[in-house]
Amino acid sequence: MTNRENFGSKLGAILAAAGSAVGLGNIWRFPIETGRNGGAAFILVYIGCILLLGMPIMLSEFLIGRHTQSNTARAYQKLAPGTPWKWVGRLGVFTGFFILSYYAVVAGWTIEYAGLALFNQFDGMTERQDFEQVFTNFSSEPFLPVILLIVFILLTHFVVVRGVAKGIERWSKVLMPMLFIIIAVLVVCSVSMPKAGEGVRFLLYPDFSKVDGGVVLSAMGQAFYSLSLGMGCLCTYASYFSKKTNLAKTTLQVCIIDTLIALMAGFIIFPAAAAADYGLTPDDIGPSLIFITLPNVFQQAFSGMPWLAYIFSVMFYLLLIVAALTSTISMHEVVTSYMSEEFHLGRKKAAWVETSMSIFLGIFCALSFGALGDVKIFGQTIFGAFDWMASNICLPVGGMFIAIFTGWYLDRQLFRDEITNCGTVRAPYFKLLIFVLRYITPLAIFAIILSNFGMF
Ligand code: PHE
Repeated sequence: MTNRENFGSKLGAILAAAGSAVGLGNIWRFPIETGRNGGAAFILVYIGCILLLGMPIMLSEFLIGRHTQSNTARAYQKLAPGTPWKWVGRLGVFTGFFILSYYAVVAGWTIEYAGLALFNQFDGMTERQDFEQVFTNFSSEPFLPVILLIVFILLTHFVVVRGVAKGIERWSKVLMPMLFIIIAVLVVCSVSMPKAGEGVRFLLYPDFSKVDGGVVLSAMGQAFYSLSLGMGCLCTYASYFSKKTNLAKTTLQVCIIDTLIALMAGFIIFPAAAAADYGLTPDDIGPSLIFITLPNVFQQAFSGMPWLAYIFSVMFYLLLIVAALTSTISMHEVVTSYMSEEFHLGRKKAAWVETSMSIFLGIFCALSFGALGDVKIFGQTIFGAFDWMASNICLPVGGMFIAIFTGWYLDRQLFRDEITNCGTVRAPYFKLLIFVLRYITPLAIFAIILSNFGMF
């Protein structure tokens, strides 16, 4: 492709990739999974998954994207012309479109909750039922969630059409530091609350008796989702990296940032819940955690200081919007770059195609909490089925093929040249990396998929 854009700076590239990785997966999903699966023990298994599965696949995506300087489908066509490998890229594009459609529903909710927090609507609420009512009434409404979904996708759209340097990079440079600041302030507030120690202990005390096959599998799924792996998202971003970017270092940096933010989210949520005497029962740490449990926790924890409850909730929901936006941008970009380069549509038109398709599909997901609640796909709501399909099938399958591609198919010299920037950076881990990509990563992922079908 001629006149393809690049990220203007190394920092911009790292922040954009980290922005993709850090999202609702870290702040919403990670604490839920940690709470359900035994706290610190889960965290240790999760970190193991990041090291053994996440990092090798991320590096693979980076090198495929950077080498080919193409959208994810074209990338495989270039590296393996005339073979079916291009379908791995196409699966990624499809997954990007798919995930954006339902992810933007939850992202839309974060706008509503930021508004509720801003207008002090939680003030004076004390009972769990009150918070439940607010959530159920809102999410089952036919209009507002749909409108907010559209607003969120349009917000994403306008960043994406600005292009790589002026849109994605510039916004990531503003939004990511903002996110760090908000999250750091929230951690400090949370752990300094009275009785927060109990929540901290929950996060730091590993109870290995809880670790079974299911826990390991959840940790692997969470690693994929959180690192945005398996759908060519980071491959697309890497196609805008400069030839000087050190891919292994960038992989390490993105993984560290993503894991730190997830841990920090844990240090916000569990101490706050403990401080509010909320009792961490598995029911409370389900998907409603940040929309029902947390506002309640904020109100209770700061019952003597309503202004602090106000600031805490406004900041938290703003943080969620920011985190979700940098992730939706990356999903949108996968599809937009594919459409614009493969169908010669131009960036603007391509972005409109993706925006309209995702809004269309997203409406069904948004309505599946109300008007379309009775429509079931394999026994789940539309939203539930989409989430299940994307995180349990599409991402792991994509990741497995990426590992097989780089481990078994890709030319070894090309691989080495790409990660060493043609010999200018050392890569003493090369042999180990190839071994992991050939055997460990694909087999482990295969196990996730089989377990999802209840095969063992
Ligand atoms: N990693 C994002 C998050 O944690 C979600 C995501 C998945 C983004 C797949 C892009 C691709 O929220």
